[in-house]
Amino acid sequence: AGVCVIIPAAGSGTRLGEPVPKAFVDVCGRTIIERCVDNIPDSLDASIVVVVPADLVDRARELLPDVTIVPGGAHRSESVRAGIAAADAADILLVHDAARPLTPAHVFTRVVEAVASGHPAVVPGLPVADTLKQVVVSDDGLERVERTVDREPLRAVQTPQGFTREALLRAHADDSGLATDDAGLAERCGIDVHVVPGDPLAMKVTTPWDLKIIRDVVSESAE
Ligand code: C5P
Repeated sequence: AGVCVIIPAAGSGTRLGEPVPKAFVDVCGRTIIERCVDNIPDSLDASIVVVVPADLVDRARELLPDVTIVPGGAHRSESVRAGIAAADAADILLVHDAARPLTPAHVFTRVVEAVASGHPAVVPGLPVADTLKQVVVSDDGLERVERTVDREPLRAVQTPQGFTREALLRAHADDSGLATDDAGLAERCGIDVHVVPGDPLAMKVTTPWDLKIIRDVVSESAE
């Protein structure tokens, strides 16, 4: 038994436009990576591995003295593999984006419970609110709509994504580096992936707008 949470936090976060990598950006007095680690529920009794840019390993060790810190790679999946290599012998491995610092405890427990009940790969997901169009760039440089996608069966997928150790190792054994999430790698090798309800608070910080929302939520809940 046992749970290990691997947090890839080695991205540069250039889309955020901040002077430091995304995980090290301040949100109302604490960095995103500290908030992310704090939100992992104690009830899981999980070990934690955080993967950071090589030049920030020492900084991360200062911020998170109780956590295993290792340097990451050029792509997200390389960073995840660095995390897997540093993980302890836990049976359930969660991979959780540092960029989702407000993920509520119940999302973690839902994912862990679904893996523990026998599902090899579990992701939190939400229905899609917007209407989705598939486009192509036409000759005049504008995007032209090819079709409207039926959104009803679609889910916007979040993290933490949970796996049996065996499933995550298999998923990462053959990786061409292109998957944007770990479940995508699992799907490609024929592993069933199940979805449990996600939460709007598990939103990912990518743009300055997302950062503003996260800061507003944190300062409101501090009032
Ligand atoms: O860039 P994006 O927001 O999709 O990255 C998702 C997560 O993967 C972030 O937490 C980021 O720090 C991490 N990542 C990583 N190593 C990379 C690229 C991204 O750990 N080389």
